[in-house]
Amino acid sequence: MTDPAALDRADPLRRFRDQFELPRGVVYLAGHSLGPLPKRTVARVAQTVQNEWGRTLVAAWDEHDWIGAPARIGAKIATLIGADADEVLVADSTSVNLFKLIAALMIAAPERRTLLIESGEFPTDMHVAQGATAALGRGRQVRFARQGQLAERIDENVALVVASHVHYRDARIRDMLAITQRAREAGALVIWDLSHSAGAILVDLHGARADFAVGCGYKYLNGGPGAPAYLYISRQWQERLSNPISGWLGHADPFSFVDSYNPAAGLARFASGTPPILALAALEAGVELMAEAPRTEMTLKTQALQQLFLDRVFARRRAGLSLLGPEDVRERGVHVALRHKRAELLVAHLARLGVISDFRPPDAMRFAFAPLYTSFADSAAAADALVQVLQTVGGRDLSPTAKVP
Ligand SMILES: Cc1ncc(COP(=O)(O)O)c(C=O)c1O
Repeated sequence: MTDPAALDRADPLRRFRDQFELPRGVVYLAGHSLGPLPKRTVARVAQTVQNEWGRTLVAAWDEHDWIGAPARIGAKIATLIGADADEVLVADSTSVNLFKLIAALMIAAPERRTLLIESGEFPTDMHVAQGATAALGRGRQVRFARQGQLAERIDENVALVVASHVHYRDARIRDMLAITQRAREAGALVIWDLSHSAGAILVDLHGARADFAVGCGYKYLNGGPGAPAYLYISRQWQERLSNPISGWLGHADPFSFVDSYNPAAGLARFASGTPPILALAALEAGVELMAEAPRTEMTLKTQALQQLFLDRVFARRRAGLSLLGPEDVRERGVHVALRHKRAELLVAHLARLGVISDFRPPDAMRFAFAPLYTSFADSAAAADALVQVLQTVGGRDLSPTAKVP
């Protein structure tokens, strides 16, 4: 078995771990849910609160360029996802951005009525798709494709496809280029949800010729709980779309206070209301940290971390446990999903041993190996804890309150 300590010594990314607040005795493998706190965020938020809000008050909108924060941070996120600076805007939540894009695109293509999405997608994508098509009316509806059959189900009735780049449950990476091309051939558009890929794996929106994307700020961008989200619209589409939540900050001249709406040029029209400046300060610190990290090394490291974990678990314990999603680590994002009929119980017991993962019903456990703050020692410790917990609970019908040795 590979020596985790030796791998950690040779790790070209090891300097990044110290950039995060990680509680002692905890192996944190839930970055797919909430990224940990970057140390620099504490000072950044304090500076925004004390100096900017505290001392500059309302003048800070100009003096500290609060008003420019959504576009400025969007430009920084753009460097992580293969987009240009003026193609990404930070705004709202992923759910709200999805709604805005779905509505804008379906209104722009009235002759087609179908939104295609794979069943088992992240719930908000499916639910917003249902809500938006119902609100738009005129026969618009959601069609669900079976898992793995998204590309095959794109036909001439489909206006829009909504798809996660990395699947939230089984971590499989979708072929963004192939699906985008297939949609284009059929005259359909695609919105990519980058929540589980941006800041985690290589994302190249231009390379995939993708036109639309959304994503969240609190997972691999480490922007803090409930961090603002972002949306991407390729330059060629920006002037052709209208924001259905046409709020004052998407107006061409918000401070003219006129009655009628006149959209701002370009992507700025996709802003709706006042940006959350304190949350943006935290997001900007997280994004800047991610932008400092070399992407290729990150990919190689997460693959090695995942492989070490899986080898160490499966070498000793197979019964009742199976890998969900692709076997080939190159086809997975940053997390590994394992199935076990007592997954919920195992996750609870792992947490008591200091290993933080999560459970997704009915039987999946997810372990994220985010490469900037996860060490090989963490990966080995998590595998050992899982084997220990499996030995303890395996074969016995324990309740979630049962004691871990
Ligand atoms: C794929 C995906 N999309 C969207 C979201 C969340 O959207 P929101 O930030 O609006 O809650 C998540 C959250 O886990 C997710 O996994």
